[in-house]
Amino acid sequence: MSKKTVKDLRGFAGTHVFVRVDYNVPLEDGRITDETRIRASLPTLEYLIKGGARLVLASHLGRPKKGPTPELSLGPVAVRLGELLHREVKVASDCVGDDVRKQAEALKDGGVLLLENVRFHPEEEKNDPAFARRLALDTRSTVFVNDAFGSAHRAHASTEGVAHHVKRALAGLLMEKEIRYLDMAVHPKERPLVAALGGAKVSDKIQVIEALLERVDALLVGGGMAYTFFRAKGFPTGKSLVEEDKVPLAAELLKKGTGKIVLPVDHVVASKFAADAEHRELPAQEVPDGWMGLDIGPITRRAYAERLRAAKVVVWNGPMGVFEMKPFAEGTLAIARAMADSKAVTIVGGGDSVAAVTQMGLADKIDHVSTGGGASLEFLAGETLPGVACLEEA
Ligand code: 3PG
Repeated sequence: MSKKTVKDLRGFAGTHVFVRVDYNVPLEDGRITDETRIRASLPTLEYLIKGGARLVLASHLGRPKKGPTPELSLGPVAVRLGELLHREVKVASDCVGDDVRKQAEALKDGGVLLLENVRFHPEEEKNDPAFARRLALDTRSTVFVNDAFGSAHRAHASTEGVAHHVKRALAGLLMEKEIRYLDMAVHPKERPLVAALGGAKVSDKIQVIEALLERVDALLVGGGMAYTFFRAKGFPTGKSLVEEDKVPLAAELLKKGTGKIVLPVDHVVASKFAADAEHRELPAQEVPDGWMGLDIGPITRRAYAERLRAAKVVVWNGPMGVFEMKPFAEGTLAIARAMADSKAVTIVGGGDSVAAVTQMGLADKIDHVSTGGGASLEFLAGETLPGVACLEEA
């Protein structure tokens, strides 16, 4: 899959460009606690600024359901973005309407205007065509650049609808990088391709497991989801997390993925779900009555790390254990380290596994750490993302 990008745009000085970014960042008391997504948007913005575009940026923040919600204003993001870009970022009081029109008209070449949270209008999530048209018209934009990979699985007015009301619809540089890397796991050109999948539930990852099984050489399973597979194999699971209703599905997947699905051979079991719980390393078939498995064991860690080091392409999603609790963090740590050491192309897709590599200070040793959670999972599951489909083919 290949899309035209901002680099395919010629002579755009003075052009109003509507850039959809994903500034859905975590906030605590109005303070941004992780600015990864803001930093990830800078290459596209700097490229467009350098060429003299007049930038109108749009994003959502959180999930406001009742119109304008002051705590979910993009104001704090505008301040941080201005610092990172070393230039003034103007702020609009809304994303459509008079103020937006005035401020968009007043933009100079290289100027930046950040619109207010697009989800303050219910029409955004409904992908209302009239609202999408207003986004383009009120901002004077003739070019749409989608750099919001994290929101590309949403068919909303600012991620998809607006593309139909401009002359050109292009991918931003972050979007291009996300697609290029994640596509290596969807359409592998190099092998072995190894996936490590963790996280609590099989049900959250079922589409991804099914899609990956058709493409990977090995799928290493860890985290809570391993126990639904263990149950399907008839192992005792104690009080470990098992999705009872997914046991038949796990059995079916094991049958389908014979030789490809790799399950832990040992694990760390604990007397309760707590950091100070009594814990032991045992073979995977053993769980003392009333105990629960909270991490993969040392033999599994070594075996998984070895598979990752020998691979050509590695994709990882979901922690191998309860990494927030120190005694159960070793499995996740081992995967993160093996990824960092591996000569393979390494891709970390979304959510908790991103948090894990970031916390461990290993993010810059991974080839690609996706900014998308749900979007990267849907992409890996082989689904077409509406925010990508609406962009011009290369
Ligand atoms: C995300 O954080 O995954 C994206 O910004 C999408 O947010 P949403 O799940 O609220 O649509």
